[in-house]
Amino acid sequence: MSTSDELAALASQLYAASFHPGPDSPPQTTAVAPRGSVPDGTALTSAATTGFGAADPLLSGADLSAYAVPVWPGWVPGVPDLRLGGPPVGSPTGNEADYYFTSPRSAPVAQPVPVLPDGHEIFDVNAVRADFPILAETVNGHPLIWFDNAATTQKPQAVIDRLAHFYAHENSNIHRAAHELAARATDAYEDARETVRRFINAPRVEDLVFVRGTTEAINLVAYAWGGKHLGPGDEIVITHLEHHANIVPWQLISQQTGAVLKVAPVDDAGNLLLAEFERLLGPRTKLVAATHVSNALGTVTPVAQIVELGHRYGARVLIDGAQSIPHIPIDVSALGADFFVFSGHKIFGPTGIGVLYATEEVLAETPPWQGGGNMIADVTLERAVFQPPPAKFEAGTGNIADAVGLAAALRYVEKVGVERINAYEHALLDYATPLLADIPGVRLVGTAAEKASVLSFVLAGHEPLEVGKALNTEGIAVRAGHHCAQPILRRLGLEATVRPSFAFYNTFDEIDAFIAAVRRIATR
Ligand code: ALA
Repeated sequence: MSTSDELAALASQLYAASFHPGPDSPPQTTAVAPRGSVPDGTALTSAATTGFGAADPLLSGADLSAYAVPVWPGWVPGVPDLRLGGPPVGSPTGNEADYYFTSPRSAPVAQPVPVLPDGHEIFDVNAVRADFPILAETVNGHPLIWFDNAATTQKPQAVIDRLAHFYAHENSNIHRAAHELAARATDAYEDARETVRRFINAPRVEDLVFVRGTTEAINLVAYAWGGKHLGPGDEIVITHLEHHANIVPWQLISQQTGAVLKVAPVDDAGNLLLAEFERLLGPRTKLVAATHVSNALGTVTPVAQIVELGHRYGARVLIDGAQSIPHIPIDVSALGADFFVFSGHKIFGPTGIGVLYATEEVLAETPPWQGGGNMIADVTLERAVFQPPPAKFEAGTGNIADAVGLAAALRYVEKVGVERINAYEHALLDYATPLLADIPGVRLVGTAAEKASVLSFVLAGHEPLEVGKALNTEGIAVRAGHHCAQPILRRLGLEATVRPSFAFYNTFDEIDAFIAAVRRIATR
């Protein structure tokens, strides 16, 4: 070993021993007071198994009965919530006023710790919130309530630290140089790919292409795969629920190739009409492109059946996971879609980074999209030989740091558990939906049987933008507008809605504040 190698090894050991928020930093947690609905010390210990909040030694053997206050909004005393396990049945005092939901604004601020049927706490929302520094912001004199998660999610400190760490200690271009920082950057970038693979259970890292986001991924598929495989009269089937990013690229490639775009309808609640969808499929169907969760309505589509039907008719199937990735466990191997795409910023990662997953077979039949450095094996002035996937589809210098940041976000989510996130968000949505519907003048937009996170509405006599601005004066951030999904809103007779959308760091208290604010606006 040369002296410089020894120095590098020593530096690396010192570096590893010093405090740096490295890639595997656990999500930050803060010590929190014992919480409601913790029946005994077992539940606290089980919290450690979720990766959150190790058991508090102060609580071992402590009498927790004083804290066993049911704080599960929407739960009816005496009726256990079987879906989530629910809080202990019955009030400790038998006094209805002890329940959080009977007097929301004056109730204790402790957040519920929902329990899954397996006895595990879902997670400690206070500890989660402490990991997201922006949630401590005030807006117009009010604590920020971030209900614009379908547009973008906030970032945990672990992601912010990972980005800073990359630029402070690893920054280099990848693959091309023989120096230490190139090795660190390359390792971090390829480790990020492996983290994505694990997160969505893709069979191979080679099947994962880093792109700018969902929009770029769909455009890549449309132009590269579609440009080669679509011809005059071939059919592309999408749904009426799609975001513009899953409509416009197919319109553009149809114009170029002569392919025909067909649209599967939805009912008035926003449910995809699966029989109608199937009726559109036929021998000319080359591609089905469908969202997993509607960004405008929150409808969860039956993706397994969509994939199965598409394949039955010999089509390739693309699933747009932009809105499902933070809410629903994704297993692309089990799903069997040919393409699955998502954006990092929707899942607590940075903007400007996203993922195209495609099967080995499909990537092999897809020509390069953009040409340049990184994607070639050899170039003469007459021809180029390409790298195998994924490099074949990653021309130029990619968004290295943000890929690494995305991996930190995925690790964070893994530690919480997507199933737990899903259960908690469902509880938020179930709690908020009837309260909002109850406000005079409110029309819910999107009431499908299966929904995730999104609670679109309009308020009679008030433009959506006006409602959005009024909520902003109270520190509540929602999106108001067409949500880049004009066709589905027009299908429902609207040009715009107000769209609160929830994430796992939102709370029942925040929903109460939001409901109270909408009530005030409604009575103005
Ligand atoms: N697609 C993002 C949204 O739904 C921007 O708001």
